[in-house]
Amino acid sequence: MKGIVLAGGRGSRLYPITQGVSKQLLPVYDKPMIYYPVSVLMLAGITDIEIISTPEDLPAFRRLLGDGGHLGLRLTYATQDEPRGLADAFLVSADHIDGEPVALVLGDNIFHGPSLGATLTGAAHDITGCVLFGYPVRDPERYGVAELDDAGRLVGLQEKPADPPSNVAVTGLYLYDRDVVGIAAGLKPSERGELEITDVNRTYLERGAAHIELLGRGYAWLDTGTHDSLVDAAQYVQVLEHRQGTRIACLEEIAWRKGYIDRESCYLLGRAQHTSPYGQYVMRLAAA
Ligand code: G1P
Repeated sequence: MKGIVLAGGRGSRLYPITQGVSKQLLPVYDKPMIYYPVSVLMLAGITDIEIISTPEDLPAFRRLLGDGGHLGLRLTYATQDEPRGLADAFLVSADHIDGEPVALVLGDNIFHGPSLGATLTGAAHDITGCVLFGYPVRDPERYGVAELDDAGRLVGLQEKPADPPSNVAVTGLYLYDRDVVGIAAGLKPSERGELEITDVNRTYLERGAAHIELLGRGYAWLDTGTHDSLVDAAQYVQVLEHRQGTRIACLEEIAWRKGYIDRESCYLLGRAQHTSPYGQYVMRLAAA
């Protein structure tokens, strides 16, 4: 399965911060925001990943993550000149996807929870249709919202409805079979002129091929869209990391634990960053 991280957009709700730097490069405590969604794909066993951003911001992502070889990944980069909607990602990345199933994760979505990797690997295995991940929230009207029947089956999807049919938000992590590029190519732009991911998901739903997995209350799905939620997310990461002495979304650690790189390489990646506590953590881990 291929992976896509969508890190475009203007991030206008975070102005003036995002007038100088891409939202997905902002720090969430001790690492750039994009580390979190990349870590999710890595935990799902996906190593061939395309990062999509604006022509202005793409060089910064490339500077940060390179070709991914140091992490045992294959990273490629593609530009989206105008924000044409989330589903445009499949058209931008059609060559990268190359007829395979694909996981899309939004570059500003932070997931954390028990056995996330195993949950994703299970859902991605032999995928037919699409798999969405639902999460109960207090303010569903801000998101794509799932309508479920009594048996918990997905029966409807609405984008930012004024009157939400449930409190289950559709998170920014989506798994698709190989039909997704064709479906995206056939979409009509919405009223705001964008190719909506919810329309892709609705097409699967009409085919009877859309599934949803609920991430229960043991999981965190954090928002980074406003000044306050960005601080909240950083504090969540800080509290857990301080308490446990571990690091969330440490790409070097995941690469090593997943067997994408060996211990020695992991150590050297830490040493190259030894002036920061993050780098010291990676060194300690690989030396243990
Ligand atoms: C997008 C999707 C929405 C989804 C959300 C998750 O909204 O359109 O369905 O729930 O991401 O982060 P946006 O953040 O672009 O407003």
